[in-house]
Amino acid sequence: MTTPTSDHAQLPLLAARTFNPRRYRPGNLDDWTGHLPFVNDLIASLRPSLVVELGTRYGESYFAMCQAVEENGLSCKCYAVDSWRDDLHADDAVFTEVDAYNQRHYRSFSTLLRTTFDEAKENFGDGTVDLLHIDGPHTYDAVRHDFENWFPKVRPGGVVLLHDTAARHADFQVWRLWEELALEYPHLEFHHSRGLGVLQKPGGAGGSGRSVHAVLSASPSDQDFVRHYYAMQAHLLERRLGESLAGSERDAAVAERDRALAERDAALIRQERLSAEVRNLQAERVAVVADSRRTHGTHDSLANEIASLKTNLATSQTRVERLEAETAALLEQRLDLEDELKRRADEEQRLAQENIRLANDLNVVYQSRSWWLTAPLRRLFRTIR
Ligand SMILES: C[S@@+](CC[C@H](N)C(=O)[O-])C[C@H]1O[C@@H](n2cnc3c(N)ncnc32)[C@H](O)[C@@H]1O
Repeated sequence: MTTPTSDHAQLPLLAARTFNPRRYRPGNLDDWTGHLPFVNDLIASLRPSLVVELGTRYGESYFAMCQAVEENGLSCKCYAVDSWRDDLHADDAVFTEVDAYNQRHYRSFSTLLRTTFDEAKENFGDGTVDLLHIDGPHTYDAVRHDFENWFPKVRPGGVVLLHDTAARHADFQVWRLWEELALEYPHLEFHHSRGLGVLQKPGGAGGSGRSVHAVLSASPSDQDFVRHYYAMQAHLLERRLGESLAGSERDAAVAERDRALAERDAALIRQERLSAEVRNLQAERVAVVADSRRTHGTHDSLANEIASLKTNLATSQTRVERLEAETAALLEQRLDLEDELKRRADEEQRLAQENIRLANDLNVVYQSRSWWLTAPLRRLFRTIR
């Protein structure tokens, strides 16, 4: 940052950088947006090693600090303390989104502590915190309680930020505490974006807190200049991001329309493909039904064939049985015949022997005398017959 007027030529300034916050108005809230350029320059100048925020919700302030830590190449641990509990109801959806964002961008050095401010206190040693941002409850008692609890954790030369110092509606009473603290510590207050009080814990002379100290101890007119400078930066940032937001909203609408058209085209193609698939399936179904019918037909004819084969088998079996019975009867007949034949053969043999015996007897007769004597008689006899 350069000094634009000769009036402020000696003003020590913070390491001004153009800041393009990655997380802009999360949850559509812009309470903290106006302080993003300052907190970025503050971190670049202070070069903290330990940052703690009390009250994070959507994380606009917290992630701007993380971004500044990252972009300035600092070796620094950051902690966001919040119960993420809206009154009695757990704000799980907000926490889930913030946690995912943290994991995506800053998990190597940033930790979310989902707990109360009082409980989280025990995790930090006294005099260790370089930058403490208090943005929790806003009643006087509550914010004083948080300040008193946590101020001992801040190292000498460390910086405390208090948001909402300019808010005076309802229970917002940070301004009362701020008025008391401003009497005690080097400080600067911004009035835009609901006000931001910046104070430095005494001690820790020199080092990285020197330029911050110079700004916080500057004359009222120099501080006016710084205030105006950052109010202007806030305005420029909001205009730049507001315009790019409008542009990106328009781009998003066009992209959305293109996406819807592409989806419709894809749906048409899908529908066409599905129709073709339905047609194929219908054809397949017809083929399957025909096949099934054919199979049933084959099955029926096979069943018929089997039934007729069974009948044939039964008939054949009956025939076989009948033939076996006939064979047995024939066999018996054959045995009888064989017996008969044998009997006849025996008879023939006996007759043959009888013949032989008769022939012998006849021969004896022929040889006998009477036979010869009666021969003429027999001849006469044959003639008269
Ligand atoms: C105003 S919001 C913080 C806004 C935030 N810094 C931003 O950049 O938008 C206050 C947060 O403090 C938290 N809170 C209030 N009292 C708390 C307590 N005692 N312990 C833990 N969280 C608390 C609330 O849950 C709420 O998310």
